[in-house]
Amino acid sequence: TPRVFSGVQPTGKLTLGNYLGAVKRFDELQGSGMETIYCVVDMHAITQWQDPAELTRATRLVTASFLACGLDPKRSILFNQSAVPGHAELAWILSCVIRIGWLNRMTQFKDKAGKNREAASAGLYTYPALMAADILLYKATHVPVGDDQKQHLELARDTAAKFNLDYGAPGGAADFFPLPEPLIEGTVTRVMSLRDGSKKMSKSDPSDMSRINLTDDADTIAQKIRKAKTDPEPLPETAEGLAERPEARNLVGIFAALTGRGVADVLGEFAGQGFSAFKPALAEVAVSVLAPIGAEMARLMDDPAEIDRVLADGAARARAVSEPLLEETRRLVGFLPR
Ligand code: TYM
Repeated sequence: TPRVFSGVQPTGKLTLGNYLGAVKRFDELQGSGMETIYCVVDMHAITQWQDPAELTRATRLVTASFLACGLDPKRSILFNQSAVPGHAELAWILSCVIRIGWLNRMTQFKDKAGKNREAASAGLYTYPALMAADILLYKATHVPVGDDQKQHLELARDTAAKFNLDYGAPGGAADFFPLPEPLIEGTVTRVMSLRDGSKKMSKSDPSDMSRINLTDDADTIAQKIRKAKTDPEPLPETAEGLAERPEARNLVGIFAALTGRGVADVLGEFAGQGFSAFKPALAEVAVSVLAPIGAEMARLMDDPAEIDRVLADGAARARAVSEPLLEETRRLVGFLPR
């Protein structure tokens, strides 16, 4: 059966990038007929030190954002990663399948470790093994993510294929793990920084003006858009006219994604106009979509016990789906039956 899995790290606040690149897509997939499993990946978060109290809060906040964006605990399994020990167990097995050479090619490790790679945690280095385990633990077939996760997903596919080769019994388990299909789609798969059109919008950017947070209020959203970097040209007639204009392309893409319209359609309305006209229109659209989400997140955060109940219920269901698959995996590797 087709099955969707994806995860979001509880590090800092969620941004418009997380929303358009991921969580909005998670919501759309709920009606697709595929089973949907969405995870707050708290174990991934600690690959870089997190203040413990802040991690607890951020885990609930990401869950609140899931719910506020329309994820429904009746239609999807929503849970936090550390509540299902199978993720860690399968990550170990897969880290014995993955080759060091594969990990050495991961650009996210290089970016996050910075200059002093020797001082990065071993967990940051083996992060892709845990991510492959997240997906394969459920034999997920489809993984909706933003463009920045593409390389990790290719590694997850390679890992599944190598496990199948290493442990596939003749006539049996040759395709034990399905190769997970990345779903990198939608109008914008990479939302860029509001300050620099060559950098992705990120919750870890030191400048809060570079991003729109799902928790920003209407005035803050409007101010960030007003101050967003642009160029002096009016908007072009066609999408090709945006090719060499990363900031303009980003803002038009955000407008299109938030309104569910095509880029060509948006340009049809605004071609020939400058940003002094476009920015207020974009701010209005952004506030109308994001303000209700922010308000709902705040409301949900007033009742952390209810959030924890949603996560506990999801974790129980996630364990029920994954445990038989994990037991089969153990058997293939040659571990004694439990
Ligand atoms: P994370 O927590 O950095 O981001 C969560 C999701 O948001 C997407 N995203 C963006 N999309 C478009 N534009 C942006 N500026 C932008 N910023 C973030 C990310 O692509 C992602 O889809 N390694 C993952 C979490 C993870 C995972 C998994 C994902 C762990 N296990 C298994 C899928 C399947 C991460 O760090 O995402």
